[in-house]
Amino acid sequence: MDSRENFGSKLGAILAAAGSAVGLGNVWRFPIITGQNGGAAFIVIYLCCIILLGLPIMISEFLIGRHTHSNTAGAYRIVSNGSPWKWVGRLGVFTGWFILCYYIVVGAWTLHYTYLSAANAFYDVPATEYSNIFTSFTANPWVPTLWLYIFIAIIHYVITKGVRSGIEKFSKIMMPTLFIIVVMLVVCSAMLPGAAKGIQFLLVPDFSKVTGTVILQAMGQAFFSLSLAMGCLCTYASYFETNTKLATTAINVSVIDTIVAIMAGFIIFPSVFNIGMDPNDVQTGASLTFISLPNVFQKAFGNGTFLAATVSVLFYFLLFVAALTSAISLHEVATAYISEEYGTERKKAAVVVTVVITLLGTVCSLSFGPLSFIRLNGLNIFDMFDSFSGMILLPVGGFLTAVFAGWVLDQKLYKDELSNHGEIKASYFKLLIFSLRYVAPLAIGMVFLEQTGLFRKLLDLLR
Ligand code: PHE
Repeated sequence: MDSRENFGSKLGAILAAAGSAVGLGNVWRFPIITGQNGGAAFIVIYLCCIILLGLPIMISEFLIGRHTHSNTAGAYRIVSNGSPWKWVGRLGVFTGWFILCYYIVVGAWTLHYTYLSAANAFYDVPATEYSNIFTSFTANPWVPTLWLYIFIAIIHYVITKGVRSGIEKFSKIMMPTLFIIVVMLVVCSAMLPGAAKGIQFLLVPDFSKVTGTVILQAMGQAFFSLSLAMGCLCTYASYFETNTKLATTAINVSVIDTIVAIMAGFIIFPSVFNIGMDPNDVQTGASLTFISLPNVFQKAFGNGTFLAATVSVLFYFLLFVAALTSAISLHEVATAYISEEYGTERKKAAVVVTVVITLLGTVCSLSFGPLSFIRLNGLNIFDMFDSFSGMILLPVGGFLTAVFAGWVLDQKLYKDELSNHGEIKASYFKLLIFSLRYVAPLAIGMVFLEQTGLFRKLLDLLR
């Protein structure tokens, strides 16, 4: 293990972890659920979820990774002392790898839409046509697959360059780029007539909209957005230097993640209001990103103008960068696992991971076209991957991580690592353990019951 690489700097470590956290979720989900569920009231709840739930789990994942200097499966094997808890790490690796298979499909779409925007392909397109453009693109057997392979090739390239010259260097270029693009887009949006209304919609608190379901949604979003329970943070933390401050790093990553998410709202809503669209009709996910927004940008910034094309290009490129840095973190989870657990050379391990995601990614991509006949409960293969990971793998992984860190992991070890062996004060230790023992498992358990529909069934039974 002596030859194991480290991140060369604290900033590099923070930016790499932030690159994992800032992803599609920040742009295509957070702004919409915030706007529609109470604005600032939702943000307050979201922040509470981050503090009470997200940070303790993130710090624990960091701690386990840095303590063991090992891939996620190896890390849990070491800290669980051979008990069945080692399976939590393997589950994390599986989850990360599994999510990667469909996440890259969307990454590929962002590339195609960057290209379409640059080619001014949305000039004079009637509003009703955008949905057809999207469905005929995704149903095409060749075009999405081609973009998919380009997207995978970029990930593979960065991973094979290694931790320091690949992931860290890349994050140090890409994250500031992402931030600059976000700021540029916010400025463009803020200058639109009626922009203030959009920002108001996003920010004015409306506590009457906050229901139990909204709180659970906030928790689920916080969880996904911080990349918890996928092995990413644990793997990245295994490359932290021993004097990296874990809590400070976790706070930095969460702050960056949240700021980007809120700013994404400042990009989307002013444009939505500018064209007179009802913000409550805006959907999240792919429909927002690839059907509503190209239309919104054309209308708001002038059909076919240079400005509209530029905003559109920048927006899809932003999504591409966000998706890419997240995908890289997922690839690294699996690469580190194969390379360390099977003693394979890193480059060969990366090839194994890439081959698997290329095969499964192709299947997911084709599930909108030639393979769309394969369905379960109306879901195509892509949706199955998405639902299974979001509803089952992530909550189960998060729950087990919290329980493991709170109840099973040696508390002395926890405190020792948290305080960097006594170098820094970790007065929040007790609070952290309290959250890991009680708050986080309970909260995640509820999200799980709600998402799987079991909550309603239970309520019905009780009635
Ligand atoms: N945090 C990412 C997001 O907000 C989610 C993610 C990260 C998904 C890493 C996969 C891998 O989109």
